[in-house]
Amino acid sequence: MTSIKDILPPSAVITHAFYGLKDHAAVVGALDQLVDNMNIPRGVFAGDNLITLGKSLGFLDDKVLMAAFQRHAATPPERGAIWRLATLAWAARTALRAEGDFVECGCYKGVSARIISEVVGFADLPRHYYLYDLFEHDESMPHHSMLEHSATLVDQVRERFSDMSNVTITKGRVPDSLAQAAPEKIAFMHLDLNNAEAEIGALEVLFDRISPGGVLILDDFGWVAYRAQQVAEVAWMAERGYHILELPTGQGMVIK
Ligand SMILES: C[S@@+](CC[C@H](N)C(=O)[O-])C[C@H]1O[C@@H](n2cnc3c(N)ncnc32)[C@H](O)[C@@H]1O
Repeated sequence: MTSIKDILPPSAVITHAFYGLKDHAAVVGALDQLVDNMNIPRGVFAGDNLITLGKSLGFLDDKVLMAAFQRHAATPPERGAIWRLATLAWAARTALRAEGDFVECGCYKGVSARIISEVVGFADLPRHYYLYDLFEHDESMPHHSMLEHSATLVDQVRERFSDMSNVTITKGRVPDSLAQAAPEKIAFMHLDLNNAEAEIGALEVLFDRISPGGVLILDDFGWVAYRAQQVAEVAWMAERGYHILELPTGQGMVIK
C-alpha cells in the first residue's frame, strides 16, 4: 500500500536565512521543534522570513530552475530566496507570451537575472535584457549598501553575462541612467532598488512601455522594512487602475 509519505514529494527547504531577529539561535531551535512536532514533516519551507508547513513546493521539481539555482545562488540569503526566484521564473516564462525585452533595475551581482536567463534560454531569444545598478555605494546614497558593492562589481557582473550578447549592463542611478539605454517595449520587469523614490522614478519612465500581458515584479513590496515602497506603489498603481498582488515571499506582482 502506498503511504501518504510516498505520494508527497520529499520536499523541504530549511534554511537559516531569517532577518531582524533578536535571538537567531532560539528561532532556529524553535523551527526544529516545529518540524519535530509535525505528523508528517513534509512540505516545510523555512527561509527568507517565510515559513510554510505542508505545502507542495512544486518549484523543487522544476529541474531547469533548480539547476540554474545550484549554479548561481551561492550565499545563504541567495539560497534562502529560492521561492522568490521561483516567482521570477514563473514571471519570466509568462512574459514570453508578451512582446518586448526584459529589464531589471537593481541587479546587484546579477544572480537573479542570470538564473532567469538560464530558465528561459534567454541567450538564444530575439530579445534584449537590460540591467541597471549603481554597483557601488557611498554614504550620500539613499539605499543601503550591500556586502559586495565595490568599484569592480560592475566588471564581475559583465563577466557573469560575457557569454550573452543580448545583455546590456548600465551603471548609474535609476531613473537617470535609463536615458543611456532602455527598451521601447518590455515583457518582463523586475524592480529591486530597496528605495521608493527610485522605484517610482523607474515606473514613471518604464511602466507605459510594458506590453499587454507583460509582468512586473516588485521585489521589496511586501517587506515591512520597505513599507514606504508599498505605500507609494499602491497609490501610483491605483491612479492608473492597477492593483498589486502582495505575495507571501514579500514580492509584489502586476500583470499589465
Ligand atoms: C537587493 S539588491 C538587488 C539584488 C538583485 N536584484 C538580485 O536579485 O540578485 C538592490 C540593488 O539596488 C541598487 N540600487 C539602489 N538604488 C539604486 C538606484 N537609484 N539606481 C541604481 N541602482 C540602485 C543597489 O546598488 C543594490 O545593488
